[in-house]
Amino acid sequence: RLRVANLHKKELNFKYVVIGDFGVGKTSIIQRYTDGEFSSSYKVTIGADFAVKTLEWDEELRIHLHLWDIAGHERFGTLTGIFYRHSVGAALVFDLTRPETFKSTLKWLTDLRNKVHLPGGQPIPTILLANKGDVTTNTLPNDIDVFCKENQIMAWYITSAKDNVHIDDAMIRLTHAALRNH
Ligand code: GTP
Ligand code: MG
Repeated sequence: RLRVANLHKKELNFKYVVIGDFGVGKTSIIQRYTDGEFSSSYKVTIGADFAVKTLEWDEELRIHLHLWDIAGHERFGTLTGIFYRHSVGAALVFDLTRPETFKSTLKWLTDLRNKVHLPGGQPIPTILLANKGDVTTNTLPNDIDVFCKENQIMAWYITSAKDNVHIDDAMIRLTHAALRNH
């Protein structure tokens, strides 16, 4: 009976964008999440890249997360709107070892909110990732809770692509929100 049910599993595709300054670890987070791997060498992303993670959500539902890895350097370009199109979730990343990358999150958020909305016009669900938590957490901004509340960011996490910390949790949280909007 189960096997028959699985054949008819419902499939959903959710597009998420992963944004934030260059070098904060967007590609590393996606690679950790989709391949289970981490590389300490830095290969700058040009334009955008793309990977898929499939979640066996429950016995009736399979979800394909299409993770769009937007180059940090694209914030100064004109293509971000094209890359954001039809996304239903966003992970905004900054780097705990470079506090200036937290300041940039507001610019990314403004760019995102100006250019993409859910079909009903609401902003797309967004989570904030404080990455490289394996190196330091002393630099976590004091006002991060207020910042999230003021900017309609649903949750924040200290993550590490290197040590695989909180990346699954963050994506699951975003997926619950995407499902509510679906
Ligand atoms: P752009 O493509 O230029 O926008 O950068 P990016 O955000 O994709 O950064 P990328 O994932 O390429 O990571 C930049 C550097 O930080 C690389 O050397 C990574 O190995 C390193 N890095 C990424 N995540 C972590 C982490 O969680 N911990 C540590 N220690 N290093 C990390
Ligand atoms: Mg990259």
